[in-house]
Amino acid sequence: MQREEIEALFDQHAASYDEQWANLAPMRDALNLLISSALSALPADAHVLCVGAGTGSEILYLAQQFPGWRFTVLEPSAAMMEACRRRTEAHGIAARCDYHTGYLETLPSGRRFNGATSLLVSQFILDREERTGFFREIAERLVPDGYLFSADLSADQGTDDYRRLLDVWLRMLTRAEVPKERVDQMTRMYARDVGVLPPEQVGTIIRDGGFNPPTPIFQGGLIHAWFTTLAPLPD
Ligand SMILES: C[S@@+](CC[C@H](N)C(=O)[O-])C[C@H]1O[C@@H](n2cnc3c(N)ncnc32)[C@H](O)[C@@H]1O
Repeated sequence: MQREEIEALFDQHAASYDEQWANLAPMRDALNLLISSALSALPADAHVLCVGAGTGSEILYLAQQFPGWRFTVLEPSAAMMEACRRRTEAHGIAARCDYHTGYLETLPSGRRFNGATSLLVSQFILDREERTGFFREIAERLVPDGYLFSADLSADQGTDDYRRLLDVWLRMLTRAEVPKERVDQMTRMYARDVGVLPPEQVGTIIRDGGFNPPTPIFQGGLIHAWFTTLAPLPD
């Protein structure tokens, strides 16, 4: 998808985003539990970059688990960012957040982060080189041995497994009371506008962006997640 289309899509859905996904909280809870465990080796005063933070769900969780951590919130949709700002204010953690409305390449350079999260973001980049570049931009902003936790929709779309999984996934969304027109929109997007790639290919893209081979840590329906650390620079 083009950036303007992505921004327009999330601007449009920001007001209803949290309510819409509320019934899928168990999936979110599982991811948050795993992120906090994978990143728990970071220092007590770690600074974490949250890429495509949306309304900030993982930030609220991590801020509560790790009271000394700071967060840089990166989000291109102004409406999603505004929702995130309001939520972090309501939870009393806004003073621990720096907000950047935009993309990685416009994030002021100079700061090195101890860790980064990217949840359901890189899937919107259809061009493989660009998607690798997205992870490279994250890698360039991490300290040596810095951590990455990344999740995306992932599957081999040409297989019967995918068709069966998609069927259950769409039924899950319907049972979770996601409005029908939104489910239909997502079904169309998975086929055309979202880079749903097999898990091994996503792992390779992350690695090619400058990370050690990522460890798969989660699958919940179509969502897969990986964690890894920054690869050492070649001599
Ligand atoms: C599906 S939402 C996920 C939001 C949040 N990470 C979560 O898990 O709830 C994807 C978010 O990524 C943002 N996004 C899309 N493309 C991006 C990019 N290239 N860089 C940073 N953020 C991006 C969108 O604006 C949107 O808020």
